[in-house]
Amino acid sequence: MMKRFPEDLIKSLRNAKRVAVLTGAGASAESGVPTFREAQTGLWAEYRPEDLAAPYAFEKNPWRVWEWYEWRRGLIENVMPNKGHYALVEMEKLLKAQSVEFTLITQNVDGLHQKAGNQNVIELHGNIERTKCAKCGKVAVRWQTTETHPPHCLQDNCGGLLRPDVVWFGESLPLEALHKAMAAAQRCNIFLSIGTSTLVQPAASLPTMALDAKAVVVEINPNPTPITGRVTYALEGLSGYILPRLVAATWG
Ligand code: APR
Repeated sequence: MMKRFPEDLIKSLRNAKRVAVLTGAGASAESGVPTFREAQTGLWAEYRPEDLAAPYAFEKNPWRVWEWYEWRRGLIENVMPNKGHYALVEMEKLLKAQSVEFTLITQNVDGLHQKAGNQNVIELHGNIERTKCAKCGKVAVRWQTTETHPPHCLQDNCGGLLRPDVVWFGESLPLEALHKAMAAAQRCNIFLSIGTSTLVQPAASLPTMALDAKAVVVEINPNPTPITGRVTYALEGLSGYILPRLVAATWG
């Protein structure tokens, strides 16, 4: 049974002029999206994700990495957004109707926030549905499928190999997205950190930036994280359970 939300938290949400939200793999967990750190199954059980989602892995065996992403795309293809995603859509609508700035920053590459209906989503780690050329960097919309190697880039006879447009270990985040996310964290009145372990940088610094800028920081997670002891409110539980109730308690 959920305890009542603190009065001051509800007040802070109602009075905010700028709201920023950061989501991680936990926000998609109730949709059935396997998280990165979960044990892999089937054909891929013997591989560590860290050894596939990396530039050196693609250089060594591009086909294996391509196939792994095909498999992950298949897993994501049929899943639906969950109640937590829909609560964030509701929150965006309600806040925008009151001319409150709302920024949704996600580390997830599954596109579920957009599928649910959120308008302004900053993708820090790319999107698994998009493909780009490993050589020229152009996002590719068409390619010829093969069964031995990833498709080649068709851009101006570039001929590079295509790869998913996601951020791999050791790679930089898309600069514009990162700058927007940092700006939102630094100027918001309230920051929600939802379903993220806050272990992977630089996204993990965003809640701390908000705290340093004197924002109210709320964490929604069933498990403690490195920031739990520092946030203004730690709401322990699943995002699909807590978020709809928080929206109803604030604006219902
Ligand atoms: N609701 C809220 N939080 C949840 C739920 C849920 N239903 N289920 C799990 N969690 C929490 C876990 O307790 C954990 O703290 O979600 C967090 C997921 O942590 P990670 O798997 O580390 O995910 P994330 O923080 O998004 O990882 C960051 O690392 O693997 C890379 O690029 C990948 O974007 C990913 C990044």
